[in-house]
Parts: sequence; C-alpha cells; structure tokens
Amino acid sequence: MMTTMQQLQKQRVHEYQLLGGRFVSGVKTERGRRLRSKAFEASHSSEGFSRGAPADPRCSGACVARGFAVGSRARGVALMAAERIYTEVQDYYGKELKKKEDLKTNACCTVARPLPTFAREALQCVHEEVSAKYYGCGLVIPECLEDCWILDLGCGSGRDCYMLSKMVGENGHVTGVDMTESQVEVAKKHIDYHMNKFGYRKPNVNFIQGYMEKLGEAGLKDESYNLVISNCVVNLSPDKRAVLHEAYRVLKAGGEMYFSDVYANCDLPQETRNHKVLWGECLGGALWWKDLYKIAEEVGFLPPRLVAASRITLANKELENAVGDFQFVSATFRLFKIPKDGSAQWCEAIYKGGIAGHEKELELDINYRFKQGEVVDVDEETAAILQNSRFSRKFLIHPVGQKVSSPEGYIPGKQKEKLRDPFKLVEQMEPNVPAQNPSGCCGAKACC
Ligand SMILES: C[S@@+](CC[C@H](N)C(=O)[O-])C[C@H]1O[C@@H](n2cnc3c(N)ncnc32)[C@H](O)[C@@H]1O
Repeated sequence: MMTTMQQLQKQRVHEYQLLGGRFVSGVKTERGRRLRSKAFEASHSSEGFSRGAPADPRCSGACVARGFAVGSRARGVALMAAERIYTEVQDYYGKELKKKEDLKTNACCTVARPLPTFAREALQCVHEEVSAKYYGCGLVIPECLEDCWILDLGCGSGRDCYMLSKMVGENGHVTGVDMTESQVEVAKKHIDYHMNKFGYRKPNVNFIQGYMEKLGEAGLKDESYNLVISNCVVNLSPDKRAVLHEAYRVLKAGGEMYFSDVYANCDLPQETRNHKVLWGECLGGALWWKDLYKIAEEVGFLPPRLVAASRITLANKELENAVGDFQFVSATFRLFKIPKDGSAQWCEAIYKGGIAGHEKELELDINYRFKQGEVVDVDEETAAILQNSRFSRKFLIHPVGQKVSSPEGYIPGKQKEKLRDPFKLVEQMEPNVPAQNPSGCCGAKACC
C-alpha cells in the first residue's frame, strides 16, 4: 500500500516526464496543481498521443470525470473505462447492496442538516421497502416547492422523489432517473401506494431507467424542470461535466440544481479512483470540491452556493487505510441557471415570508440568511438569483441606495467574505477537533 507521500512522489516523477524533463515544484500548491492539470490535458489531447506522449496512468474514466478534452484514441479508452464504471456501480446498487445496512462505510448515510418538520412528516409516509434502499448522503429538500417540476438524478428506490411528490402538491411533478434496473423497479412498484397516501387522483411522479449523463436518451427535453436534485450520485459518474451540462440543459431559466454529494479535499490519485469498493461507496469518484466550482462555471451555472456540509469518517478500518490521508465531506450545493444580462447590482432584499416551513427565516445558503421583514444587503449574484428564480415573488428587492420600507426598520447586511469551502465549514462546526493528519498533503491544506 503506497503512502500519500509515495503517491505524490510517483506523481512528481510523472509530471517530470510530461513536462519534458522539468520538475514541477510545489506539487502541493495551487500552482503545482495547475501545472499538473496542464500536463494532464496535454497528455490527453490527440496531439499528445500522436507525438507519443507518455501514457498517463490516469487515462481512464477519470479523464472524463475530470472533464478534460480527450483525443480520439484516448476517448475510446475513457469510454471503455466509463462502461466498466457503469457496470460495477449497477452491480453494487443492484446486486451487492440489498439495504442501507449493507453499505461498508457511513459515506452514504450522513445527514447534512436536520430535517424540517414538514419534511419529516413527508418522510414518514414513504413505504418501508423504498426507505430501506435509501443510500443518500444529505438533504435534498429545497424550499418553495409548491407546483414545481423536479428531476431527481440517480433516484435509486425513490425515497426523495416520494417525499418531494408530497411537497410539490398534485399540480407539481417529480421524475426520477436511475440506471440500475432493480432500484427503478422498487421505485415504480410503490407509485399507487404513495398516491393513495397523499390523496392524489393521478400520479405526479414517474421513474425512468436511464443515464444522468444522457437525459436526452431518457426523453427529457430542454428547459422542462424548475429543479434538478440529486443525493449522493454525481460522484459515481465517470463524466461529471456531462451530468452538470445535462442538468443545465433540462432546467428552465431561473431554475436550480440542488444536490448533495461527496467531495474530497484533493484531486484524488488514480489508486483511489480505481478502488472498486471506494468508488461504489461514493468516495473513489468524489470530486475535489474546487473542481465543482470550475465545472459549474464552464457549464453556465452561477458559482455554486454552499448550503451544508458534514464530515465523512468512514467507520471502516480497511477502507480508512485504503484512502490514507485524504478527507471527505458530504456537502449540499445549489447551482442556479440565471440568464446573464449584465444588469445585476448590489441590492437590498427583504424576505416577505410565506414559504412553507420557512415562514420566519429563509437560509439561502451558508452566507445568506433572511429573517422575514429585515433588510439585507445582497451582492450582484444573490440579487440576480432572488430576482430571477422561483424566490422572486417572496422578496422585495431594490438597488442599494434606493429607499426600502421594512416593518423591522433598516438592518444593513454584513459584506463579509463568502464561505465556499465545505471543509472550512465542517471545521467551523467542530472547532475543538484538530484537522486530521495535519502532516499529510491535504491535512496541511496546501492543496485544499
Ligand atoms: C448512492 S445511491 C443514491 C440513490 C438515491 N439518490 C438515494 O438517495 O437513495 C446512487 C444511485 O445512483 C445511481 N447511479 C449511479 N450512476 C448513475 C448514472 N450515471 N446514471 C443514472 N443513475 C446512476 C445508482 O444506480 C444508484 O441507485
């Protein structure tokens, strides 16, 4: 078993080859990582291959997962690796796991935030066979759901779909997509049970067996959903960029992708990515959290908004040894699809209240909390979100400087630096716990 230092050493030798014999200093730094990425990109371009560039050991599904341009020969290799990942993940969730308790780590069981009462009530209505096969890692219950059309990527047995189908009401709709046949079968089996339970005359939920990277093949049209959710699934994809791209495509303007997933504090090495159980347990395919910001922006979303995070401890000695010093969190982010018209500016926003379960206070993300009736200064992006999303009818918004009348009087918002790093968030929540493995690559925060 290689230690992290040995892995880094190996990586540095590899970078030496890729960069034509120049050693890249500061592998642990942002610059080192950029150089590494450049080298990696070069080695994956078609020219790189025709020039006989050294074969990169990471040239597998990971190059698609990392969203790099892939030349035609490399693309063939990547597609084969992606096929292997699909088959292994389907076996894992379709055959190996029968119920939650069969999971080998706690990666898929962490709850990022306590459930609000109305969500708890909806959860209690879910059929026990559906709940027994729930493998999510967070809470994917955004606010303001009435009449919404929601798509759940990797819906599994459908627990979140059924909770949401109660919350959107009879005029809303929820579609669940999952590639594993047996999971979709369980979900479909209980449609009538839930519709009767909720008192709906016709089903407001449907399930499709399909790939989240190819929603068009599953028959899902452009701009057809208000919300895309996902619970502990994107990490399992060999092509994260395609997932976000498809989510963006099917969202209406003003829509949002609200999802929970597992993130790493580093770009994981190939050894970790190749570990079948680690991938199946939602760890091996985890994105470095910073890469989420990169891919989301490239796809067209506004920068991700961090909603919640909790540390994943694994609770499995053998797998803890296999991951070494790398750390993982389960985190919930929201990505908004807001047309960029350049008119956004700093604003004063007042939450009018009226969102079920959030009547007195609405927490948009970790940086913005709105108390009903209070004036809060919001930056351009937040103003654009509040003005152009389903939240628009719940807020009064004026450009900064114009007078706003609030029943609570004027309470200026603090222009503090925004928290974006889910690892920082978990550290803040557990102030007395020292950082794990402080001497390791990522414990030292050098590459985080
Ligand atoms: C960790 S489970 C989570 C399931 C569900 N979201 C839940 O909370 O119970 C991952 C699910 O994602 C599905 N999945 C993984 N990769 C997928 C892909 N590329 N397209 C569609 N579904 C996928 C698996 O079949 C599995 O049901």
